Amino acid sequence: MKQASQHRNIVNIFDAFIIPRKMSVSIYLEYCKIGSLSALIERHAVVQRPLPEHFMWHTFQQIASALEFCHYGPRRTFAILHRDIKLANIFITYRHSSRDRRIMVKLGDFRCAISAQDRDNGHSRVGLSRYTPEFATPENPRYSDASDVFQLGIVMVCLCNLSQTWRKSHEGRAASKKQRNRPAGPKYSKGLSEAIQWCRQKYPRDHPDAYMLHRAVVGCYDSIKWSLPRVPDLILPHRSR
Ligand SMILES: Nc1ncnc2c1ncn2[C@@H]1O[C@H](COP(=O)(O)OP(=O)(O)OP(=O)(O)O)[C@@H](O)[C@H]1O
Ligand SMILES: [Mg+2]
Repeated sequence: MKQASQHRNIVNIFDAFIIPRKMSVSIYLEYCKIGSLSALIERHAVVQRPLPEHFMWHTFQQIASALEFCHYGPRRTFAILHRDIKLANIFITYRHSSRDRRIMVKLGDFRCAISAQDRDNGHSRVGLSRYTPEFATPENPRYSDASDVFQLGIVMVCLCNLSQTWRKSHEGRAASKKQRNRPAGPKYSKGLSEAIQWCRQKYPRDHPDAYMLHRAVVGCYDSIKWSLPRVPDLILPHRSR
């Protein structure tokens, strides 16, 4: 976990220690001032203000980059799977200080994470007791890199629909084919829907790996960002303004 937190899109771990007498673990984390994506959706849903598309692409790129780091590097031997990617475990903060108003999106809460080595040795159920059913993948409990990518797709659908869970959004059984093919909805570009749809293929073998996804999202955003409308910014929590 400490190694993973070296990446700029992963919540930094400052210190961690075990107190054997109390059988407890303490972890000191970087504080992300703007809070979680779940809290952000809550603020926007109250006033029904959609999130800006630029923010969607920034989130998509940055979390895909964090996943690429978890799955591939810095050394393959260190690869880990997160296994609990959801709105409440992705955080937003300012890039450097509150004077620099640009924001960063960071993956946090590695409580369900497992090393790829343990997964390969058949321990894939270990640590899943706190797993969140609303973000479950079709292949659950057989977990792989592709499952993290699938969950990132769900997070993006929730952001586009200002919904806390994907089943409650326009994804349920009753959804029309048009809605299923355009998961980002009509307010967002077709490119965003296509990138999200790619992550949410039924079979894990059809998902992009994090490396491919990261590059595809960067490329797609670069080609359309000039055409995206300027819309009001994110609604920030009072304490961080
Ligand atoms: N790095 C962070 N910066 C800011 N807030 C954080 C950070 N990490 C966690 N939090 C907030 O602290 C609270 C507790 O987080 P924690 O991950 O322990 O539990 P949880 O996310 O509520 O539970 P679970 O992950 O099991 O669903 C949450 O409200 C979360 O948004
Ligand atoms: Mg959490």
